[in-house]
Formats: sequence, structure tokens, C-alpha cells
Amino acid sequence: MVDLSVSLGRLRLHNPILVASGTFGYAKEMAPLVDFAKLGGVIPKTVTAAPRAGNRPPRTVETASGMLNAIGLDNDGLEHFLAHHLPYLRTLPTAVIGNIAGKTEDEFVQMAARVHAAGHGLAGLELNLSCPNVSGGLDFATDPDVTRRIVRRCRDVCPDLPLVAKLTPNVTDIQRIAAAAADGGADAVSAVNTFVGMAVDWRRRRPVLGNVTGGLSGPAIKPLALRAVWRIAQLRAVPVIGVGGIGTLDDVMDFLVAGASAVQIGTANFYDPTASVRIAAALPGAVAALGADRVAAVVGTLTIPS
Ligand SMILES: Cc1cc2nc3c(=O)[nH]c(=O)nc-3n(C[C@H](O)[C@H](O)[C@H](O)COP(=O)(O)O)c2cc1C
Repeated sequence: MVDLSVSLGRLRLHNPILVASGTFGYAKEMAPLVDFAKLGGVIPKTVTAAPRAGNRPPRTVETASGMLNAIGLDNDGLEHFLAHHLPYLRTLPTAVIGNIAGKTEDEFVQMAARVHAAGHGLAGLELNLSCPNVSGGLDFATDPDVTRRIVRRCRDVCPDLPLVAKLTPNVTDIQRIAAAAADGGADAVSAVNTFVGMAVDWRRRRPVLGNVTGGLSGPAIKPLALRAVWRIAQLRAVPVIGVGGIGTLDDVMDFLVAGASAVQIGTANFYDPTASVRIAAALPGAVAALGADRVAAVVGTLTIPS
């Protein structure tokens, strides 16, 4: 028997396979396809304080190597989430980690306080400090001081809710940002959100996306995300949730060995919606193949030949 449970700070998961925010709706949409009990957890789409219509279309485009999206956090707002989505999410037989994005530092804190007061049933809260597609372009996690401050202030108003800081890869040194999140009191960081990119239609001399730029995701970004996770794991300051291009069991094992304590499956949900549950079912075999009897024992076991 392989023990699949993992602990990231105070966040406890019965297995390390999560589904990433924005790629799994609010879970109900996926119910016909996915046995939620087989997942370590679900992270619903980011919610903002007020409803947002999102960016103008087209909002997604497939490139030769990866998907570009500029959804722009289209959502019905926090109160709608609490009233209409949370009652369903609470019934799921797996951990549900809410995901919020504030427009300002103060708004992050107000939203976190509201979730703490009304979000009974959530296993944790992911702070989306890293959406590249929101006009104003406030990418909080490009600045270590801002990252530390938001995490700390959210921590103060959510004393007993596990907090995960979701980081952007669009920085020079992600280790510094992760260290700041750890310092602010994050239970874990998730790395990474999408890489900013663009697509052009040269015949029309137009950008393909209505927002001009978007975030690149999918298998193309796996090596980049893996390196980010490995760098953060070397800090040994905060558990890491790996995300970026994960779609197979081998991808998951690569991330675990490189230092991720858990992973999120994102874009793969669009082209292979049952990937997450199949990977979770196959995980014990891969862990056992490394001679381990618990998944936590393979985390961060990468050795660099001297
Ligand atoms: C269409 C789409 C929408 C997304 N929306 C969100 C979101 O609302 N909040 C968030 O934190 N991340 C969002 N993401 C980022 C993913 O959660 C994930 O971090 C990223 O796509 C990298 O993982 P992947 O390559 O497995 O997709 C979105 C990604 C895609 C492709």
C-alpha cells in the first residue's frame, strides 16, 4: 500500500493531484467526467470582488506549441461564488481550495476576510497574485515586498485557513518571490501561472487575441515550470505545488522528484478531461517503482551528479 497523502503547511490532501484554477470551471461542469473522490483537490476559477466580464474575444488560441489565453478573469464575483458555487463545492468528496484575486492589496485582504467568515468547507485559499491578463496588468507577484505584504495581511485575517500563493513565472528570480511568500506566512506556493506571449495574424496585420497578449500554457511550458519548481524547492522554505504543462503520470513524477509536494493539472483538462483521475490511479505504481511506500518520500529526491 502506498500512502498518497501529503501535507503542505497546514493544507492536507489525500493525494497530490489537484486541478488548476480556470481549467475546471466550478467543478459541476466536470461532474459527468470526473470522480472527484479520486482527486487530491479541486481549485475553482478565480473570483474577484465584483463581477467581471473579462476581456474581449477572441480569448484563446492554440499555437504550434501551447495554448494562449486572455480570459481576463471573467467571473460573477465573490458574493455569487459564496452563494451559488460554494454550496455545491462543499458537497464534494475532496479538498476544495478557493482562488481569489484582488484589484488592490486592500481588496485582497477584504476578500480573504470575507472568505474566512463565509467560506466554511474550504480546505484552503489560493491567492492569485499572478494573472497576466487583467487590464491594469497588476501582477502582484513580480514584487517580493508586495507579495510578502499581501500574504501576511491575508494571513492575519485568515488565521486558520491554509494559504497558497500562486506565483507568476514572468520574473527574473522566482526564488526571491517564493521566499517573500514564505516570509509572509504562506503554507505553500503554486508555481506557475502562465507565461506572457502573443500570436499574430500577419495577413491581417492584427494580433489574434482581443487582448493582444495572453498567457501560454500546456506541454510547451513544462520544462520552464519544472525549473521554477526546482529552484523554489531548493530554498527549503515553503512547500511547492507544481503547475505547468502537466498531463501525464511521467510529468507528475518529474515534478515530485524535482521538489513539488503536490501538482495541479491545467490545460490538459481541456484536451483530456479524465487525465487527472487516471494519473491519480496510476500514481501508487510509480511511487512503488522508486522503492517508496509514501508519495512524500519521493518529493525533492532529485540528485545532481557531481
Ligand atoms: C483558459 C485558462 C484560464 C485560466 N484561468 C485561471 C484563473 O482564473 N486563475 C488562476 O489562478 N489561473 C488560471 N489559469 C492558469 C492555470 O491555472 C495554470 O496555472 C496554467 O495554465 C499553467 O498550467 P497548465 O500548463 O497545466 O495549464 C488559467 C489557464 C488557462 C489555460
